[in-house]
Parts: sequence; structure tokens; C-alpha cells
Amino acid sequence: MQLYLDSANIGQIKEAASWGILSGVTTNPSLLAKEDPNVDVKQRILEIHKLVGGHLSVEVISTDTTGMLREADEIISWFPEATIKIPMLPQGLAAVKELSKKNIPTNVTLIFNPIQALAAANAGATYVSVFLGRLDDIGMNSVSVLEEITNIWFVHNMDAQIIAASIRNPLHIIQSAKAGAHIATIPYSVLKQSLNHPLTDAGIQQFLKDYDKMQTEIQKIMVDDTDK
Ligand code: G3P
Repeated sequence: MQLYLDSANIGQIKEAASWGILSGVTTNPSLLAKEDPNVDVKQRILEIHKLVGGHLSVEVISTDTTGMLREADEIISWFPEATIKIPMLPQGLAAVKELSKKNIPTNVTLIFNPIQALAAANAGATYVSVFLGRLDDIGMNSVSVLEEITNIWFVHNMDAQIIAASIRNPLHIIQSAKAGAHIATIPYSVLKQSLNHPLTDAGIQQFLKDYDKMQTEIQKIMVDDTDK
């Protein structure tokens, strides 16, 4: 399962990209607004693009097909390999169909059930983003929804890649991988938290302490030898 960062924060993207584990970045209007309500979206997206060699999803804000297609054209004029993120609406599916005819990659977002996922895939979506945390927020079992979708995918050998999104904790990442999601898009804080373990930290401290002890012993032996 590939790991994407779900962020529009340059510092976070730079740091996570330097770890060598990122295959892409997903953004959305809320993430962009969170960084700076007056952000120049084109500038910010191009900055992110410079940092990330792989996938970059950029979301449209129109809710009508014509507006979505106009925005898609504009985003592609910024950088041609953009993945256009389109909300799961009938008008969005129509836009996905048009974009897929031109081989423009699309990521259908805000998917909460298997039929929405199937519809997006049938429209020609390259990626379908299934939101876990927001399902949990309304008392649904997000992982069983994701499993239903991945099962359908394997039965029918579907092409679209499943992105587990709205990841809120490390367990969501493990559950997404076990369910068979192709990608998990993860907020910086959750990714960083997931990479840490107190036993790793304690192990490093012990290794360093033992190494220092060994160096001190070697120094002692060398001093003793020169004294002879
Ligand atoms: O990519 C969008 C999605 O991951 C949003 O997550 O936490 O706002 O539900 P969240």
C-alpha cells in the first residue's frame, strides 16, 4: 500500500518527502484554507509539486460539470501531470467521464459507500477516495465499508485505485492495508506518530550508551598501553 500525505503545508510536505516514503500528496480546499485563508492556490500547488515527484491531487470547487472541466483545464495548465480531484456528485461523474476520455487522471473524493465507489469507477475514475474518519464520526464502521469496496474490487478486478482517506489514527492505516486499499492518504501528525515507538527510542538510547561505554574502555586500554 502506497503512502500519500494529506496536507497543503509546505513544511510538513518537505519533511515527510525527505523520509523517502511518500508516493504522493492529496490536497483539498479545507487543507489549503487551513494553512492561509488568503493563500494563492496556484502558487501553493506549484510549490508542493516542486517538492513531490509523484502523485498530486488538486480539487475543483465547482459543483457543475462545465465549471469542473474549466477548473481541470486550468489546473492542468499549471502542471500537466495533475490528478484532478472531483467531488462525488452526478455532475462530478459526468466531468470524470469527459476527463477520462482525454486520459486525464481523476480522483473522486467524498466516497462513503460501495455504490458511490462503483459509480466513480464506471465513470472512469483513476482513484476513488473512501473517507474513513468521517464515517466513524457518524457511528458507522468505516473499515467494514472499506472492506466491502475492496472485496467488490477484487471480485470484479476493477482498475481504479482505492485511496483510504480521512485517516485519523495509526490503526486506520493498518486496517486500510489489511483491507487491500492501494493507497492511504495520511495527515502529517498521524504519519509522524505512526513512525515512532517508545521501544525504538529506548533501543537507540541503549545502543548509544553501550557504544560510548565501549569507546571509554578502548581509550582506557590505549592509555594503559602507552604507559607501559
Ligand atoms: O483528503 C481529504 C480527507 O482525507 C479529509 O479528512 O479528517 O477532514 O475527514 P478529514
